[in-house]
Amino acid sequence: MRVLLLGTAAGGGVPQWNCACANCEAVRAGTAPARTQDCLAVSADGRTWYLLNASPDIRTQLTSYAALAPLPPRESPLRGVLLTDGELDHTLGLFQLKEAAGLRVWAPAAVAATVPAREIAGRYHGWEWPRLEERFELGGLVVTVFPVSGKRPKYAGDSALDGPWVVAYRIEDPATGGSLVYAPCVAQWPEGFDDFCAGASCVLLDGSFFAPDEMAGATAGDVGSGAQLAMGHLPMAGEHGSLARIRRSRDTRWLYTHVNNTNPVLSPASPEHAALLEAGAELPPDATELLL
Ligand code: MLT
Ligand code: MN
Ligand code: ZN
Repeated sequence: MRVLLLGTAAGGGVPQWNCACANCEAVRAGTAPARTQDCLAVSADGRTWYLLNASPDIRTQLTSYAALAPLPPRESPLRGVLLTDGELDHTLGLFQLKEAAGLRVWAPAAVAATVPAREIAGRYHGWEWPRLEERFELGGLVVTVFPVSGKRPKYAGDSALDGPWVVAYRIEDPATGGSLVYAPCVAQWPEGFDDFCAGASCVLLDGSFFAPDEMAGATAGDVGSGAQLAMGHLPMAGEHGSLARIRRSRDTRWLYTHVNNTNPVLSPASPEHAALLEAGAELPPDATELLL
C-alpha cells in the first residue's frame, strides 16, 4: 500500500492566513516548511487512489503529485473519499472535487446526512454515499471503522442525529500485511483504541495541540482553554496526553498529523519537539510517502 501524506496541518494550515505566531512567521521567513491541511491518499496498486478526508487545499494537493495525475483524456485515478468527520477543514475540499464523476464518499451516517458538500457539490455528478459498514473492501485494501466520538461540527448545531460523528480508520493491505491507522480527531484516548492500533505498521494520530491551554497563549479572541477543549483534540502533553499513551512498539510507527499552527513541536529546536521524539513519535512533513 502506498500512502501519500498530502497535508499534515490542522485547520488553517501553517502559515495560517491571519496568524503571525512564531510558527507561522518561521514559514514566512523561509526557516520552516509550510504545511497544508490534513489529508492523505492511499492506494493498493498505485493506479487507483482513495482520499482520506478532503482538505480545503485539495486542488493544490492533487495537482502536486504525479501519482494522482489524470490519464488522457480525463481519467483521474481518484476513486473515492473516506471522511473521518464532518469538520469543514476535512470536507471543504469536496466542493473542489465537484468535477469528479462517480465519486464514492464514505462517512459516518450523521456526517453523511449533514455535510454541506453532499447537497451542493454532490449533485453535479451524482456521487454515491455508501453506508459505512464496520469493515469493507476498498480497491484491494480492507478498511475497518472505529467509532471515536460524538463531537459535531459547529454547523451541525445541536443535531439530534445519532453518532458517532467522528471515526478512525484502519486500512490493511492483505497483499503486504501492511496497515495504517488514521485518527486525526481524538478528544480523549478512546476505550479500545489500543487494541484497534495493535500490530499496525503505522498510526497517524491527532497532533493538534501540545498543551491543553495552547490556543489561549497563541491567539487573540475567544479561544481560551475551554474553547480549545471543546474542539475535541487530546493534547500531546501531560499524564493523560497522547504521548503518554503511545506504545513503543517495535512494529508500529507513531506519526502526528493535523498539527495546529500553535503547536510548539513545529519548531525543531523546542523542548516540546524533543519530548515528541523522546516518546518515540515522529512529525512527518507534507509529501511524506509511506510504503506499507
Ligand atoms: C477541528 O479539527 O476541531 C476543526 O477543524 C475545527 C473547526 O473548524 O471547528
Ligand atoms: Mn481540524
Ligand atoms: Zn500561527
